[in-house]
Amino acid sequence: MYYPEELVEEIRLKNDIVDVVSGYVKLQKKGGNHWGCCPFHNEKTPSFAVNGAKQMYHCFGCGAGGNVYTFVMNYENYSFPEAVKLLADRAGVALPEIEYNEEVRRREGKRARLLEVNKEAAKFFYFQLRSPRGEKGREYLEKRELSHETIHQFGLGYAGKNGAELVQYLRSKGFSDELIREAGLASVSEKYGLVSQFWNRVMYPIQDLNHRVIGFGGRVMGDGEPKYLNSPETPVFDKRRNLYGLNFARTARCGNIILCEGYMDVISMHQAGFRQAVASLGTAFTSEQAVLLKRYTDNVLLAYDSDGAGVKAALRGIGILREAGLTGRVINMQPYKDPDEFMKALGKEAFQERIDQAENSFFFEIRILEGQFDMADPESKTRFHREIARKLCEFSEELERENYLQAVAEKYLIGIEQLRRLVTGYAAQTGLAKPLAQRPRSGTRKKDPEEKGKKPQRLLLTWLTDEPGLYEKIKKYISGADFTEELYRKVAERLFQDLEEGNYNPAAVISMFEDGEEQQQAAALFHSKLPELNTKQEREKAFHDILLAVKKNSYEYFSARLGTDINALNQVIQGKKALEELAKAHISLE
Ligand code: GTP
Ligand code: MN
Repeated sequence: MYYPEELVEEIRLKNDIVDVVSGYVKLQKKGGNHWGCCPFHNEKTPSFAVNGAKQMYHCFGCGAGGNVYTFVMNYENYSFPEAVKLLADRAGVALPEIEYNEEVRRREGKRARLLEVNKEAAKFFYFQLRSPRGEKGREYLEKRELSHETIHQFGLGYAGKNGAELVQYLRSKGFSDELIREAGLASVSEKYGLVSQFWNRVMYPIQDLNHRVIGFGGRVMGDGEPKYLNSPETPVFDKRRNLYGLNFARTARCGNIILCEGYMDVISMHQAGFRQAVASLGTAFTSEQAVLLKRYTDNVLLAYDSDGAGVKAALRGIGILREAGLTGRVINMQPYKDPDEFMKALGKEAFQERIDQAENSFFFEIRILEGQFDMADPESKTRFHREIARKLCEFSEELERENYLQAVAEKYLIGIEQLRRLVTGYAAQTGLAKPLAQRPRSGTRKKDPEEKGKKPQRLLLTWLTDEPGLYEKIKKYISGADFTEELYRKVAERLFQDLEEGNYNPAAVISMFEDGEEQQQAAALFHSKLPELNTKQEREKAFHDILLAVKKNSYEYFSARLGTDINALNQVIQGKKALEELAKAHISLE
């Protein structure tokens, strides 16, 4: 930790989690929780719960969870100290200067060092572009009609022909060869040793939401191969979860985001004033990127290339957007290949018109489909209509389906009744499209032979954080040691200790863990699904059963370890007594 624990706690207490999360996610109060759509996975119905009393959040869909720090770290892709800084600023708490000595540097970990080395490399490329040796790069960018401001805004640079210079520069700044390699900036050649990956290319630094350089795309001068060379994935460069230009587009606030294919498209769109343009990172558009876009807009316009590959990519993109609950529309770039060419030829007013006329994604799909059928042939035409019916079945909401049905029938001159019958028939045969089953995050829901013993432990921890007053009534039966899973035990011991001191503070328990995965698991312990029971009697019985199951599991666990564990004997003797008492005890839930 860089900051004293008390300060970290003070800052956490001054940032109410419901307030903070509300700044990012639309929440609605229902019962003890505030609910919203999870910002960490695709969903249309809210399963993301923020609990003001516990000062924690938990997603019942994907398992994401934690306290206000975890949230900021995951949402902003921040390290812990960065999250502390953001929340301290938000609450007006002054932070002491931290010294960046060797020790801190080491602890700051790989991610921070990768960001640093990328930043230095970006500087190097930036200055090379402006040095006498950068003339070719400058000529190239001029030819592509980029202004000085644009070049500056996107931090464009140049990698010259001498591959050793970058490495020398980075070494002189104190970066190890290993790190330079791991960042994907250089590789070892037998003849020359460590040399830059990028040479004779214009360099596009790829920035995350917070303007930090996480990787590079390098565009070859002229016709070399490959045309674009991108940094490999690293712990800071996740191509599925970032978008080129989003660091600017996120604040453009024009009611939509324009998704392009290429870096150059994004740059020339921004130069023309369309600050809402973004592109994926040399790979196909992903559902993670759709989730990211959904933070900023419900409306995505596709400005993909007008060639066959572009159309195919657009069709794919539409499906991903729809699954994420986003409305997609397609911008017609004809007769030009891409936004960059369009802009140069016809300018921004013409492009704005194309935006205004962008085609609804459903009609785009149908229009592309139409091209595959021969309307003069009744047989083929019928198949076309069947395909339309099939596509209509993808709308799970009846009203929406009906509206599209009417519109498409009108547009393609199909009898409404006939089309409706086709749809009904198709739906009856196949069952209407069901929402895709959510896949739990790896590791959270694996079949686990010990699950039977673990579940009551989770239920008990959740119940106790819901009703901390119960602790007094059960503490003579149970202790932290009864939690047989290591992480559970740490959480229980800390929670019980806090409760013992009259200090109910589940969110602080999360901060004990540095590892994100552990924080998430700890948060899940306080948010397991309790049985829904109505009468007091039922509730008392359920609570008693859970308590008994935890105690019994602990007793069995330690009995099995009698020979090997020095604490086991004690636990077994005490556990047996407590079990017997507990079996007879009545614990009232008043
Ligand atoms: P310009 O020719 O500079 O205008 O490129 P563009 O931005 O129009 O790119 P293009 O439409 O050819 O490709 C779209 C995007 O695909 C690029 O921005 C890159 O992200 C990616 N891409 C293109 N060519 C390659 C390649 O050879 N390798 C890789 N990894 N990605 C590429
Ligand atoms: Mn292009």
